[in-house]
Amino acid sequence: METNEQSQHLSSRRSFLLKGGAAVGAASLGAGGLLLEPSEALAKKGGLTKGDAAILRFLAAAEILETDIWQQYNELAGIQDAEVPGGSGNPDYTEAVAVLDEDMDQYIHDNTDDEISHAAFINAYLAAHGAETVNLDKFRTLPSSQATGAQQIGRLTNLMQLTINTSFWTRYRSDSLNPDFGDVLPNAVPGLATGQHPAIPRTDADLAPPDHLQAIANTAGFHFAWIEQGGTSLYAELAQRVTHNEVLRILLSIGGTEIILIMPEPTIFLDRKFPIVSIIRPTETDGAAMGALNAFTADGLFIGQSPEFFAAAAGLAKAADAARHGKDD
Ligand SMILES: [Fe+2]
Repeated sequence: METNEQSQHLSSRRSFLLKGGAAVGAASLGAGGLLLEPSEALAKKGGLTKGDAAILRFLAAAEILETDIWQQYNELAGIQDAEVPGGSGNPDYTEAVAVLDEDMDQYIHDNTDDEISHAAFINAYLAAHGAETVNLDKFRTLPSSQATGAQQIGRLTNLMQLTINTSFWTRYRSDSLNPDFGDVLPNAVPGLATGQHPAIPRTDADLAPPDHLQAIANTAGFHFAWIEQGGTSLYAELAQRVTHNEVLRILLSIGGTEIILIMPEPTIFLDRKFPIVSIIRPTETDGAAMGALNAFTADGLFIGQSPEFFAAAAGLAKAADAARHGKDD
């Protein structure tokens, strides 16, 4: 039963992303349960290394930011229930997002639930090992959408002025180019890569005319895939820098759930002398955390954030990027 549910969920993600691809042309429209004991394996080894803790902290921050993003989508276009409370739904926007995939409300709800669990787990794991945890609450200062359905609270991220890099799509379709080789892939939707586009209705005035609302929903659709492909690379990149097996297990286990099911075309990997292979891209480790942070910033997610926020986020990223596999400090 559960397997069946799972496979239905997977196939719905798959079909959305496929339809997302087909829509490329058209879219130019515009800690309760804290772990009480440090896990045995790490206790024997004397706790987390500095690098492992730094990587986990950066990932905790990334998950908190992702939670903030998905929460905003869920309040307006997700399933409203006690599992992911907060909003009351916006029927017009929900319908426009459902044009991309009829299960999109479920997809948004489940992603939000996943991100909440990722952030809570990683912070609880850090705490259980006596390491500093991540709390970004003081940076919840950005405005909420004024449209029907949204909660009126301070946000960490801005979804109303996005500039979306859609080269993730072409990157996963190319059999001869890979960012790990320094290749630059073109945007699938050049219109989204310049200017600032709302991915959620800013007020109820954005709910009409239908073409305007659909353009907003389409922007969200591309943003959903942008978030997930970013997380997919981030976990694969940072996993190569961790030291303890258990931390590697966490990165592989959580990272696996971020993986986008866009049925990649095989491409070049490690060296051009090898045959092409179907893989995550990029996975080069140099500057992976800072790269993710820069991508979030370029996406417009932090428009309006304070200099203190940027300093805190850069500090977390720098520390994570300084981690090296096997450096037991
Ligand atoms: Fe996540």
